Amino acid sequence: MWDRLLIDCHVATMDPAPGDPLGVIRNGSIGIQDGKVVRVGKRTELAGFRAKEVVALDGAWVTPGLIDCHTHLVFGGNRSDEHALRRSGASYEEIARAGGGIASTVARTSAASEPELLESARGRLHALMAGGVTTVEIKSGYGFDPGAELRLLEVARSLGASESVRVVGTLLALHALPRGRDRAEFVDEAVEQLIPAAAKAGLATSVDAYCETIGFSPEEVARLFKAAADHGLRVKLHAEQLSNQNGAALAAEHRALSADHLEYLDEAGARAMAEAGTVAVLLPGSFYALQETRKPPVELLREHGVRIAVATDCNPGTSPLLSPTLAMNMACTLFTLTPEEALAGMTINAAHALGLAKQIGSIAPGKAADLAVWRLESLVELGYWIGLPGPARRIFAGLDA
Ligand code: NIG
Ligand code: FE
Repeated sequence: MWDRLLIDCHVATMDPAPGDPLGVIRNGSIGIQDGKVVRVGKRTELAGFRAKEVVALDGAWVTPGLIDCHTHLVFGGNRSDEHALRRSGASYEEIARAGGGIASTVARTSAASEPELLESARGRLHALMAGGVTTVEIKSGYGFDPGAELRLLEVARSLGASESVRVVGTLLALHALPRGRDRAEFVDEAVEQLIPAAAKAGLATSVDAYCETIGFSPEEVARLFKAAADHGLRVKLHAEQLSNQNGAALAAEHRALSADHLEYLDEAGARAMAEAGTVAVLLPGSFYALQETRKPPVELLREHGVRIAVATDCNPGTSPLLSPTLAMNMACTLFTLTPEEALAGMTINAAHALGLAKQIGSIAPGKAADLAVWRLESLVELGYWIGLPGPARRIFAGLDA
């Protein structure tokens, strides 16, 4: 006998078929056992199965729980002061070069105690969860040194252990050069100390970097990626956000799980990503907050068959965005994604961007029973409403949470 049987619902399995991008089962039913989906199909097909609890959903839509595959959720303070500066005309780059930006969050993060970091991040995490998120990636990147970076990943891990959400830690090893530090030494430290320590402690599954004129060069990133591979870690990259550094091609060369931002991506980069299976993670929140005008080349990604994911990029500087549903709406309105693409972007394609497509991201036997139940007439509304609160029910590992 199964634990739960969900009935009286329409299911978007996110296992697409020709002409059916969402893999819809109308009048569907989902069987759950030990936190996993055991069977999904038409209500009539599952009629013979019994469960300890039968949950009638009144004709609601069920999707996989949302996956936010790019966040910087753990940090001290906030940067509302820079928000004001930017409104009066200063650019993100100017603020960063003047010692603000990431460096200012690094300082405020260092001044915060571990409980403070944990509780401030928990508040943001709760907002994402209320929006339907069941898996969240959390990057480090606001630490001055290896100890500070590992502390952030430990906070991320504590969040996962204490909340009904799956947390995936990413070591953002090269984010900004701390003031007064020698570049080469800082990269050496990341390669020789930080990556080995994070890998040994099992605190991250991937290594990330910020490849940009105000971040790190492709050569520095290549060194980092090699070290990541030597320690059995996958890689991802903040690429082509403010300029074209050929970061996407570099990421693809290292079989990156994803290249993220991509406003300045070119055709060679898109082709390389397609060949390597590197997911394009689009971050409309930072595009919006920075009032960028150059959009990621979505048509090029489609043409080359690159998987497209969407994430909040929740961070204090470029994307103080706490709503996954708003991220989907923005991906449609600002970047011309279809609502179906936006939903795939926060489910199955986001799972690919985290290397977890076997475990999560669609509703299929053997996958986690992480689900969102939406009282909407149609799932197209996920891309339509501006500020949709979140699902009526959120199910994590088979249980309402
Ligand atoms: O994804 N661009 C670099 N990293 C973040 C911003 C971090 C910050 O400004 O604090 C991003 O946009
Ligand atoms: Fe980011």
